[in-house]
Amino acid sequence: MRIEPAGALVGHIAVPGDKSLSHRAVLIGALCEGETHVQGFGRSADTESTLAAVRALGAEVDERGDDELVVHGAGIRGLHAPDAPVDCGNAGTLMRLLTGILAGQQGRFELTGDESLRARPMDRVAEPLKRMRARITTSKGLPPIIVEGTDALVGIDYALPVASAQVKSAILLAGLNAHGSTTVSEQTPTRDHTELMLAAAGARVRRRPHSVLIEPAARLQLAEVTIPGDFSSAAPFLVAATLLSGSELTIHDVGLNPRRIGLLDVLERMGARISVVNRRKVSGEWMGDVDVRSAELVATHVGAEDVPLLVDELPLFALAAASARGESRVTGAGELRVKESDRIETVTNGLRTLGVRIRARDDGFEVKGVPTRPTGGQMPSNGDHRIAVLAAVAGLVSREGVEVGDADAVAISFPGFFDLLDSVSKR
Ligand code: S3P
Repeated sequence: MRIEPAGALVGHIAVPGDKSLSHRAVLIGALCEGETHVQGFGRSADTESTLAAVRALGAEVDERGDDELVVHGAGIRGLHAPDAPVDCGNAGTLMRLLTGILAGQQGRFELTGDESLRARPMDRVAEPLKRMRARITTSKGLPPIIVEGTDALVGIDYALPVASAQVKSAILLAGLNAHGSTTVSEQTPTRDHTELMLAAAGARVRRRPHSVLIEPAARLQLAEVTIPGDFSSAAPFLVAATLLSGSELTIHDVGLNPRRIGLLDVLERMGARISVVNRRKVSGEWMGDVDVRSAELVATHVGAEDVPLLVDELPLFALAAASARGESRVTGAGELRVKESDRIETVTNGLRTLGVRIRARDDGFEVKGVPTRPTGGQMPSNGDHRIAVLAAVAGLVSREGVEVGDADAVAISFPGFFDLLDSVSKR
């Protein structure tokens, strides 16, 4: 896919439903009593993997439209072991959350995934779940994961050694079927969608700024979930519109959970002109419309305490920093090395070939901003959706355009990305 340079982004758009929330609505819906009506489901390769997984585990899902589902819950201990392994595709969120869920079900389950997922660390969920007396084996810390369900889980107090919402969520979901309460504490707060949705489903959850406690539950019921647009899918448009002079773009109905919108704060401190209007709460989550105008940026430092709030947007931050006056740095982001690709390498190597002055560090990167556009060229995605999106935005803001390698990877999170980008790009 070749992306030509653009002059500006102009118009009004909406992005598909949040991927984190879409996974959770289907997984938690499968544990509920009765029907869960999901509006605004974000359809993508990752969330299709979640639909297939819950169906294989015995929960029915009716698809009423592209973004509307009805999940027929199997009950809090009602999932069944299928004969074949559950294929989680590329979805780390699915594999990790499901491991927590299955720990307290009946039967033997095997979870596997694609080549990228099979290279990602799973000991981070296996280790705390084993402390809860779950019976879990991995292949030297990697998938496939075998879960032998048990009704003898016990609650634990666990301090997260890595800032990971997926690990926190796996423990909380296991805690639903444990004896005694479970507490997860985190030094740096991570996204809290799981605890918000479980509370909405009737679980007893106590949220503190640095910890969350869950009590075992007898039953869950969600009934209705409305999912806002995915901030992570809005992010490429926010960055492109900021960098392209003359841009005037509004993105409607975007999820604005405070633990997801670190990129807004970072761009604002760099001088971006972004405003949020029509802020409201839907199904316990904040959403609103985001207006963005082009702006000249100055460099900034993103440190460990910021990282979880924009972890999936750090590749795009690198591109924003490339045209910000001064030297920008990201530190405390070693987690980027274990995402769908080693994003410290894929971001720095990719952007460097386009003419950006960027250097990898162990736990982040450094970027020297210049006032001119990057040259352009070819940038591989290594099959990583966030890198394909980054390469496309780099093409728009470049002088000569960018050839995006393995561009289809965008379908992992956002199948309509290129069409939506095209619809607001002006020469
Ligand atoms: C996610 C948590 C984050 C994020 C991922 C989605 C979630 O991963 O990068 O895209 O839905 O909980 P980690 O838990 O590994 O930080």
